[in-house]
Amino acid sequence: MTILITGVAGFIGSNLAIKLLGLGHKVIGIDNLSYGFRRNLELIISHSNFDFIDEDFRKYDSIKNIEADALVHLASQKIPRYTNALITLSDNSIMLKNAIDKCVKDKIKLIYASTSDVYGKNPNIPYSEESDLTLGPTTVKRWAYALSKIYGEQYIIAHADEYGLEYTITRFFGSYGPHQNLSWWGGPQSLFIASALSKSEIEIHGDGLQTRTFTYIDDTIDGLVKCIIEEKSKNEIFNIANNPNEEITILALGKLIWKLINKDEVPPKFKFIPYASFGKYEDVRRRVPDISKIKSLLNFSPKHSLTDGLKQTIVWQKKVTGS
Ligand SMILES: NC(=O)c1ccc[n+]([C@@H]2O[C@H](COP(=O)([O-])OP(=O)(O)OC[C@H]3O[C@@H](n4cnc5c(N)ncnc54)[C@H](O)[C@@H]3O)[C@@H](O)[C@H]2O)c1
Repeated sequence: MTILITGVAGFIGSNLAIKLLGLGHKVIGIDNLSYGFRRNLELIISHSNFDFIDEDFRKYDSIKNIEADALVHLASQKIPRYTNALITLSDNSIMLKNAIDKCVKDKIKLIYASTSDVYGKNPNIPYSEESDLTLGPTTVKRWAYALSKIYGEQYIIAHADEYGLEYTITRFFGSYGPHQNLSWWGGPQSLFIASALSKSEIEIHGDGLQTRTFTYIDDTIDGLVKCIIEEKSKNEIFNIANNPNEEITILALGKLIWKLINKDEVPPKFKFIPYASFGKYEDVRRRVPDISKIKSLLNFSPKHSLTDGLKQTIVWQKKVTGS
């Protein structure tokens, strides 16, 4: 297959491109390098089956003439913690429309990266694909991200109903690993690793008792590839996540990373940052996936425990930052 990936120089996009090329597919990737890195592509940039387009996907012309069998739409703005909600809402809707228009016109499958953030504050865990999506008020800008992805999901399904668009929607749960963004953009783990390596304070947002279920990138990619290739993924939504028993508080994640790097030689140091410093902010207290659907339909099975995945991530981060 020839697979077009938007956001190919990002964390998930670059790992996906490497995997697909290894499986013998052709990959055409677009990225404007706003949050991605050329270093993420260094393994594949000269590969004969890989083409890189350094362009802004908000412009439809950037992909108009590309011939592909499927489009994996990963390029995105995320939770506006340090950016603004307008960019999240407008960029995500413009790029979504471009992705849909391309797939409808060329009659190719769209694989859309949604997020576990769509479940919002729903207190009923674990979250299955049929769970309610419970967001907070529109005056809290962090919900702009989840809202943009919910809109994306519904807009895609409406195009399937009206124009026969073929799709698969994936909801990722906190993926981490090599090529992750080293700022908050990539989640807390890379900053925790950096702090533990320099033996400086780990910054925790809120009280640290909020939980997440982190997924090692190889497992995320394994699930995503199944969603691209397997016939049974057609017109379905899937959680792609680690096993629910890997749920961990953010504070415990900080302690675990510190211990993996510094053993018991130095006690960890934490600095708690109140949510109020981000303006009107709301966090999700617990986030736990139900992955029974992707397990039974696509034979998905996550293989990496959090500790095992973090060890591999630390090795990569030390190498890339020279620490
Ligand atoms: N990483 C996770 O744990 C996670 C969790 C839930 C959902 N997701 C979703 O998965 C997708 C990929 O996430 P990621 O972590 O790899 O993010 P990322 O930021 O590392 O990658 C996204 C890439 O898109 C590119 N991009 C952004 N705007 C663009 C534009 N206008 N034109 C061209 N390229 C543009 C960025 O430069 C970046 O390289 C996103 O849609 C994200 O919302 C990720």
